[in-house]
Amino acid sequence: MGIDIPWGSEGTRALLGNVGLITSRDKNGQANIMAAEWTNQVSYSPAVFEINIGKGKKTLANILETEFFGISIASVTQNNISHISGTPSIKLDKIKALKELGVEFEEDKETKVLTVVGSSLRLVAKIINHKEAGDHEMVMAEIVKLVEATDKEPLIYFRGKYWEIGVQLAHG
Ligand SMILES: Cc1cc2nc3c(=O)[nH]c(=O)nc-3n(C[C@H](O)[C@H](O)[C@H](O)COP(=O)(O)O)c2cc1C
Repeated sequence: MGIDIPWGSEGTRALLGNVGLITSRDKNGQANIMAAEWTNQVSYSPAVFEINIGKGKKTLANILETEFFGISIASVTQNNISHISGTPSIKLDKIKALKELGVEFEEDKETKVLTVVGSSLRLVAKIINHKEAGDHEMVMAEIVKLVEATDKEPLIYFRGKYWEIGVQLAHG
């Protein structure tokens, strides 16, 4: 029987990651965005990413419904976008709110998937598999388009706070 390591508990203190800004649409075309620290590349060739999404979230329902979605890896200046994207969509039309704040989105012509302009890396993804993983759903997606890869430094999420990359260390 597995143990629990709850959000924010001491067992999570060593873990850090990127923030994926996950953009999706429902079947009526209504766009949405969520922040996901559990966004990882898991295969190079072909490129496959895995996102772990809490059960019952609108983003998960959207991806299961419309299959294509966007992954924008937040850059170091996008902490505010990440913060707003962490709000449940029931409470706020996040895309509208972000646009009002001046955030730009680019729409992929073929899939209508939005990505966030100014991110470190922007991808269009298509779900290929999903599986329950404890209290989250593991969404495995192939990358169908690399919209933009930049040298903008990525935002770091560590111990529930945002950080930027620090000093490079020698090999030892
Ligand atoms: C920095 C950050 C990282 C997050 N990482 C995840 C994650 O990896 N998986 C997840 O399910 N929720 C994560 N969340 C919470 C979701 O962004 C939040 O539940 C959001 O409201 C879901 O959006 P939706 O209701 O529009 O689907 C994160 C929130 C923040 C601010």
